[in-house]
Amino acid sequence: MSSLKRKFYITTPIYYVNDKPHIGHAYTTIAADVLARYYRSKKYEVFFLTGTDEHGANIESKAREAGKEPQAFVDEIAGLFQKAWRELNISNDRFIRTTEADHIKAVQKALQAMYDKGDIYLGKYEGLYCSKCEQYKSERDLVDGKCRDHNIVPEKLKEECYMFKLSKYADQLLKKIEKDEFKIRPLARKNEIVSFYKTEGLQDVSFSRKNVKWGIPMPWDKNHTTYVWADAFLNYLTGLGWKGETGKYPKLWPADVQLMSKDILRVHATIWPAMLLSLEIPLPKELFIHGYFLIDGQKMSKSIGNVIAPADLIKKYGVDATRYLLMSAATFGSDGDIGWQKFDEKYNADLANNLGNLVSRVLNMIEKYCDGKIPKIVKNPKKLDKIGKHIEALAFDLALKEIWQAIVWANVYIDQSEPWKLAKQGKQEVLDKILSELAALLCDLAKAIEPFMPETSQKIIKNLTSGKIVKGEPLFKRI
Ligand code: MSP
Repeated sequence: MSSLKRKFYITTPIYYVNDKPHIGHAYTTIAADVLARYYRSKKYEVFFLTGTDEHGANIESKAREAGKEPQAFVDEIAGLFQKAWRELNISNDRFIRTTEADHIKAVQKALQAMYDKGDIYLGKYEGLYCSKCEQYKSERDLVDGKCRDHNIVPEKLKEECYMFKLSKYADQLLKKIEKDEFKIRPLARKNEIVSFYKTEGLQDVSFSRKNVKWGIPMPWDKNHTTYVWADAFLNYLTGLGWKGETGKYPKLWPADVQLMSKDILRVHATIWPAMLLSLEIPLPKELFIHGYFLIDGQKMSKSIGNVIAPADLIKKYGVDATRYLLMSAATFGSDGDIGWQKFDEKYNADLANNLGNLVSRVLNMIEKYCDGKIPKIVKNPKKLDKIGKHIEALAFDLALKEIWQAIVWANVYIDQSEPWKLAKQGKQEVLDKILSELAALLCDLAKAIEPFMPETSQKIIKNLTSGKIVKGEPLFKRI
């Protein structure tokens, strides 16, 4: 029977440990969590992987700046990511770190195989490198000579290195992308990648660094360490227990969807699938690229001093409200402009007023007019049948919209039917019907919000199923 069970494997990028977690990282991770919880509720066999990317020149130099040994430094920051995800109630099945011994062994085995089949060869790289993206850059990638993501002048590298024959896989990959065998979504992102393949094509890429000590040594030449992206990509397989074998992969592979933002799409749409082809392993089914958060119109950055940590939001709004505010801030796939004022307004309107108010009104009336018992078992009168489809399409904002429309509808239903008048007039039967309907709706709403707000969902269900229903504490205090 278990072989019939459908599976869902979802990943986030593994985040660099050069800095503390912020709400950009949290956004991707919460979105993955929503999907993981949704598919678990549908009884899929779900595996949700996240983790940290811990090697490379940039992290090595950050550790040095902090006056720490790289290992001690990465342990500390990886701990902060784990803590942040615990606090946000993230239900990941594994947290992988690229400094784990099993991951390192598998990477070495895989690279050795690629070397043995001639896909990695000794060469030379002469060109630009941005150590913040850990990416090789062409002149075309720069704006005024600077990396467009990091606004720094990339360094000039001229070194002997091992190269990966990326060019060999260009035609195959382009076909798979065009045919959606390797799906890239939203469509605009797919088109952007297709045009990149067609205009710039794929050149072989350096897969090793001679002067970077903090990395996985190339197994056949210990003077070189592995290019950090080659190391990092394989986490998506080693996270499932893969040992680095060619042509063999774990039973939950391929990934059903890999989440990330646009900053790392190009490498994920070129080097990553090419490595899989070289290793004779199927490609992930889909990459889904979400937008970037701007804070009041500005890039979130340390130098501007506007970086928001997930803990800052939790402190002000609580865990579930933080999850809600981030997931509803923008259409998943487009950029979103966020800020404290917008969060306050949305918190008060959607959570304290609409949802919180509805729950406390319904519980209060059942307590008062029905002796704390839901009068009858009836069907929820409001359809909520598109929410699942929207979540499956990663249209989280539309799913939430449908939920909130029902909440608003229910509040209007109460206003118009005026149960307090019915109680005064002794029309108990009508009152029973209305409150039963509202209880049924609340119950369905509680289930629908579970992926987004697991604690609130549980609280509502617990209230509705307790022996005697009482109004209780408000779910969300107004700010
Ligand atoms: N370590 C690499 C990924 C390796 S995956 C094999 C990396 N790490 S990162 O820490 O820079 O994370 C980048 C990702 O964090 C983005 O793709 C996105 O998922 C998330 N975000 C970081 N800043 C963000 C915003 N301001 N807005 C939205 N998401 C953001 O790249």
